[in-house]
Amino acid sequence: MKQYKVGVIGATGMVGQRFITLLANHPWFTLTALAASGRSADKPYEQAVGDRWVMSEPIPDSVRSMPVYDAERDCNTIAEQVDFVFCAVNMPKDEILALEERYARLECPVISNNSANRKTPDVPMVIPECNAEHLAVIPAQRRRLGTKRGFVAVKSNCSLQSYVPALYPLREFEPQRVLVCTYQAISGAGKTFERWPEMVDNVIPYIGGEEEKSEQEPLKIWGKVEDGRIVNAATPCFTAQCIRVPVSDGHTAAVFVDFARKPTIDEMLARWNAFAGEPQRLALPSAPRQFLHVFLENDMPQIKLHRNLENGMAVSVGRLRADTQYQYKFVCMSHNTLRGAAGGAVLLAELLCAKGYME
Ligand SMILES: NC(=O)c1ccc[n+]([C@@H]2O[C@H](COP(=O)([O-])OP(=O)(O)OC[C@H]3O[C@@H](n4cnc5c(N)ncnc54)[C@H](OP(=O)(O)O)[C@@H]3O)[C@@H](O)[C@H]2O)c1
Repeated sequence: MKQYKVGVIGATGMVGQRFITLLANHPWFTLTALAASGRSADKPYEQAVGDRWVMSEPIPDSVRSMPVYDAERDCNTIAEQVDFVFCAVNMPKDEILALEERYARLECPVISNNSANRKTPDVPMVIPECNAEHLAVIPAQRRRLGTKRGFVAVKSNCSLQSYVPALYPLREFEPQRVLVCTYQAISGAGKTFERWPEMVDNVIPYIGGEEEKSEQEPLKIWGKVEDGRIVNAATPCFTAQCIRVPVSDGHTAAVFVDFARKPTIDEMLARWNAFAGEPQRLALPSAPRQFLHVFLENDMPQIKLHRNLENGMAVSVGRLRADTQYQYKFVCMSHNTLRGAAGGAVLLAELLCAKGYME
């Protein structure tokens, strides 16, 4: 496979640090440029990140002394050095929109973890195992931007990276109504217990903007490419409550679902066990061998036992049973900064390379 030079914008943040650890030994991608805000710019990475480094492994030796660029001031320099960038920044939405489009217009594709572009109709929002066919909208986006290579592709919110993969293989049964309660880790807010001591022994029943994303983004993933845009699906209808819980990494979701054509439990288990997508077919480097790991034990899946399954790229599903109000209920779980953020973005980039969009 061709080697690609890549940059990370937002390299000092929680997701940026994950990118750095994932890219340190990547077989196709070489980390060539790092960028963050003006506060971090012009410093060696180790100094810029300082005591904010929270990964369990140390900063890779190859990265310690790499210079940190200013993502806005130095965009031309960065775009010249790399084949594409990953972007995970904490900025106002309009500034993120402008920043991502600026890199795309410099013919530097952007694989984004940010929410700013998720509603843009010609920007594909992709869970590679589910809706890889949405990449077909990229030529239309390039026409709008006036680019040959440049485009923006995004991944969806971390909250839905467990329940959308679990519902997607069941679409032949036409899910109609879905109620979901998510139990979300503090790393989803870019935090650790040291930096957010109020979260020890606590639950906070509010995560800004998260319920709206959890209800609306699945409809884009269920959507279809028509006339150069992605048209959202009308169903299933989602209602969500998103709750912050005292967990370092890993988002859990409790799901209740009604189908138009009610499947049996055995049919649901069979679809989950058999589910594979383009990443498995193409044997992409970051693809889990088995995307959905199904548990039959009453007390599984558990965050501490299963969040790192298949390098944190698998999704765990369990506790499938009949419900009294809905047809079925079950529980699912995924690692929010791996599958739900940096790992999901790296897998999306691998898919884009394998499909020829990075040439
Ligand atoms: N954490 C998760 O699990 C998760 C999951 C999915 C999506 N996301 C999304 O990913 C993005 C980053 O999240 P995070 O948790 O990594 O945030 P974070 O830990 O707060 O890091 C934010 C990053 O943005 C950079 N930044 C801030 N202002 C900037 C500017 N004006 N120009 C360039 N860079 C700037 C920061 O650089 P400095 O260090 O220089 O300030 C830092 O590198 C957010 O959009 C978030 O919604 C996060």
